[in-house]
Amino acid sequence: YKRITVKSLVEMKQNHEKISMLTAYDYTMAKIVDGAGVDVILVGDSASNVMAGHETTLPITLDQMIYHASSVVRATERALVVVDLPFGSYQSDPKEALRSAIRIMKESGGHAVKMEGGKEVKESIKRILNAGIPVMGHLGLTPQSIYKFGTYTVRAKEEEEAQRLKDDALMLEKAGCFALVLEKIPAKLAEEVAKSVSIPVIGIGAGNGVDGQVLVLHDMIGMTYEFQPRFLRRYMNLYDDMTTAISQYVDDVKTVDFPSDSEQY
Ligand code: KIV
Ligand code: NA
Repeated sequence: YKRITVKSLVEMKQNHEKISMLTAYDYTMAKIVDGAGVDVILVGDSASNVMAGHETTLPITLDQMIYHASSVVRATERALVVVDLPFGSYQSDPKEALRSAIRIMKESGGHAVKMEGGKEVKESIKRILNAGIPVMGHLGLTPQSIYKFGTYTVRAKEEEEAQRLKDDALMLEKAGCFALVLEKIPAKLAEEVAKSVSIPVIGIGAGNGVDGQVLVLHDMIGMTYEFQPRFLRRYMNLYDDMTTAISQYVDDVKTVDFPSDSEQY
């Protein structure tokens, strides 16, 4: 396998080849995701919810993101590994943002960083790019700002917010981001943005007029079940399958069906 690079992603957009992206947070899962041919693995700060059980993405730390990312990097041969800069690691000033991005690159071996926001983070993005670190943008629903918005509902339905999002997308392209995530916005707006920029636009709840799709791995394989947004397609029901398997194990232990004669020394 040849490693996917930020250049290959831009070429995929030019060739109208859609980009597949999924999250992963650990070695074993990342190995499966990489082997199955996913183009981009996102070590998302959704690890805060999925791995640690927090209600929001805010509590996860830079050290914890580096631990997840280094595990994922060790598992991948082909996918580009993008790592979320967590809340609090880049908002204070561009120097702090650069220091955090450098720590991710040095200590995890990830290939790029992602950060949420538009013009508020422009100087930080430029500073990180100047150090040679590729940056992916993230607009629309930005979970690190959840307490500012109060809800996880669809974003940019009103003209003013839609215009701001379009301006921010152009700014991110001009600043030098290699790609951009659009989360939970109207499909028509997302398609318009994808057509207006030359960098790939990866959508989650943003319709099919964009250049690629991303989902949270544990949601798409049905390991989680509380989360049921319209945009989520479940490809498996692992929550049910694992519950059945594990209850069977409990049963087998209780009834001394396990281990059998052939399963002992
Ligand atoms: O953290 C994450 O999983 C993300 C994706 C939903 C884009 O940022
Ligand atoms: Na994220």
